[in-house]
Amino acid sequence: MTRKGIFLLFLCTLPATFGRLPEGQDLRELKEDECYQQCFHQTEDSCPDVNSPCRCQQLANCKKAVVCCDINDQTLKEQLKCANLTPRQHEIEALHIRNATLEVLHLNLPEWKYLRSMTITDGYVKNVSEAFPKMSMVSCLNLSSNGIQDIEIRSLVNLYKLSYLDLSHNNLTQVPNFKKKGGVTLDILGNPTISCMSLSEAISKSVITFNNENSTFCQTTKDFYWFQSNDLVNVSELRRIKELENNCIPNCTCSPYVLNLGTKVPRVHTVEVNCTNSNLLRLPHQLPPHTATLDVSNNNITSLKELSEPSYKELIFLRADNNLITSIEPLEGTQFKSIFELLSLRNNKIKFIDTYLLEFYRPAVSVRNVYLGLNRLTCDCTTVTDFKMWLQTKSDFIKDYKEIMCDTPQGDVSVIEIDPSKYCQSDETWTDYLYYIIAAEVFLLVSLVTKVSYDYWVFKTAGYLPWPASKMPKLPCDWLCE
Ligand SMILES: *[C@@H]1O[C@H](CO)[C@@H](O)[C@H](O)[C@H]1NC(C)=O
Ligand SMILES: *[C@@H]1O[C@H](CO)[C@@H](O)[C@H](O)[C@H]1NC(C)=O
Ligand SMILES: *[C@@H]1O[C@H](CO)[C@@H](O)[C@H](O)[C@H]1NC(C)=O
Ligand SMILES: *[C@@H]1O[C@H](CO)[C@@H](O)[C@H](O)[C@H]1NC(C)=O
Ligand SMILES: *[C@@H]1O[C@H](CO)[C@@H](O)[C@H](O)[C@H]1NC(C)=O
Ligand SMILES: *[C@@H]1O[C@H](CO)[C@@H](O)[C@H](O)[C@H]1NC(C)=O
Ligand SMILES: *[C@@H]1O[C@H](CO)[C@@H](O)[C@H](O)[C@H]1NC(C)=O
Ligand SMILES: *[C@@H]1O[C@H](CO)[C@@H](O)[C@H](O)[C@H]1NC(C)=O
Ligand SMILES: *[C@@H]1O[C@H](CO)[C@@H](O)[C@H](O)[C@H]1NC(C)=O
Repeated sequence: MTRKGIFLLFLCTLPATFGRLPEGQDLRELKEDECYQQCFHQTEDSCPDVNSPCRCQQLANCKKAVVCCDINDQTLKEQLKCANLTPRQHEIEALHIRNATLEVLHLNLPEWKYLRSMTITDGYVKNVSEAFPKMSMVSCLNLSSNGIQDIEIRSLVNLYKLSYLDLSHNNLTQVPNFKKKGGVTLDILGNPTISCMSLSEAISKSVITFNNENSTFCQTTKDFYWFQSNDLVNVSELRRIKELENNCIPNCTCSPYVLNLGTKVPRVHTVEVNCTNSNLLRLPHQLPPHTATLDVSNNNITSLKELSEPSYKELIFLRADNNLITSIEPLEGTQFKSIFELLSLRNNKIKFIDTYLLEFYRPAVSVRNVYLGLNRLTCDCTTVTDFKMWLQTKSDFIKDYKEIMCDTPQGDVSVIEIDPSKYCQSDETWTDYLYYIIAAEVFLLVSLVTKVSYDYWVFKTAGYLPWPASKMPKLPCDWLCE
């Protein structure tokens, strides 16, 4: 590059360099900006001298920045006054209080009115109550390392400038609410009992960047999906759960499902898909990866044929009560057939149950529950004998076996209560024939006796034998009549 070129480049960058300086701003603000970055934080060395009666002091070169140490509920207000702020009292913009001993930190004090950065750390604060006043300018709030147990849920909602919130190393169980618009960097590391439900809500309400994301854990409670209570869950896991919920298949809700597979593999994170009451006419075509549980109850599904699709290969629990499913035949050849632990098909339109599809040989699976109640089978002799017998032996795992019905002309009758003799056609016709034969024999006997009596009477009165007796050859017993 020529000298001329370099000079031209210099000329061009000159205004840009000056442009970056906040020329428009007044000198005072510029100075304050130099005093502290976004978060005002001082070391223990900046504390006033131990012998100084005033436990707060203004920083030498920064008029609106104050450091206080070792103060408590009683001394707080007085000490702030003794900081001798110039030019006006109470116009503190940056404050760091170290080793405060407070039962309650009140957030609506007039002393906090002009604060842009509030740092109260390394002390003992039990609770934080009340809310910052509206129009509060605080953009950085550091309440780290105080053993805080409770921050009133609405305390921080007025901090519309908040961009850094450090609540690390406390004893919090709830994340307080804060502004929804614009990002906030949150540090909530080292709150051993912070609730996952609360943290998860915070993630969905606000745009949060975590400081120490990889080491931040929350604690689950019984109401947090299917986790065991007291499990520790990390932030990336929480985000995965949110993503799962937000990208579920149409008309269904997705949530994490924790499978406990004994001690060797303590838990496996799988997915639960719930599509109840969604007017579905068929099973979902494509389940989310690792779906272990599917509930499609209360729809108009007619077939189970999707069970053979690849996305169903990890399915273990299927609930499809109150649908229009006509057959369990599609189970044939599916992975589901060999691994399932729950199959619930109550109140469907199943007419026939292929028992071999429900047998299980895998000893590893100790639990297998089947529900088939309120289906009305077409019953014949086989159903009421073989199937009834099979049901009786499987009563342990077909929990509602008593409610499986036969669709009879007289109405529904429980298969288990039905009398096989009524159903088995061969027995029935055989007894019917027997009655006919007996009736015919009785008729023949009566006719024979009548004819013989008539013949006798005619012979006695008229002296001849009517046909056919007259044509019959004489038998040795005939002398009896004569
Ligand atoms: C903290 O403040 C209390 C008085 O409130 C004082 O007794 C204690 O020594 C202080 N601790 C430290 C580490 O300065
Ligand atoms: C601190 O908060 C807890 C929980 O909200 C409450 O039970 C307790 O009474 C509060 N303590 C004080 C001193 O306000
Ligand atoms: C907040 O205070 C803690 C404890 O003094 C400190 O370690 C941390 O760096 C501070 N956070 C910020 C953002 O200044
Ligand atoms: C946190 O709270 C538990 C009980 O709620 C208590 O045992 C523990 O000492 C507290 N920790 C701190 C640092 O205050
Ligand atoms: C956090 O963990 C993820 C994946 O485990 C990794 O990619 C990332 O670099 C980690 N971040 C930090 C700050 O360690
Ligand atoms: C978070 O937890 C999940 C599940 O326990 C684990 O697979 C993942 O590696 C963890 N990530 C980090 C950054 O610790
Ligand atoms: C979802 O439900 C709506 C309304 O009930 C229905 O119109 C739509 O077809 C359903 N979508 C699927 C994929 O079943
Ligand atoms: C699916 O959602 C319905 C309604 O919210 C609920 O009654 C049902 O228990 C859920 N299914 C599962 C397996 O949690
Ligand atoms: C589902 O079936 C019921 C009757 O069984 C019917 O009333 C309803 O309209 C059907 N719904 C859909 C979405 O087909």
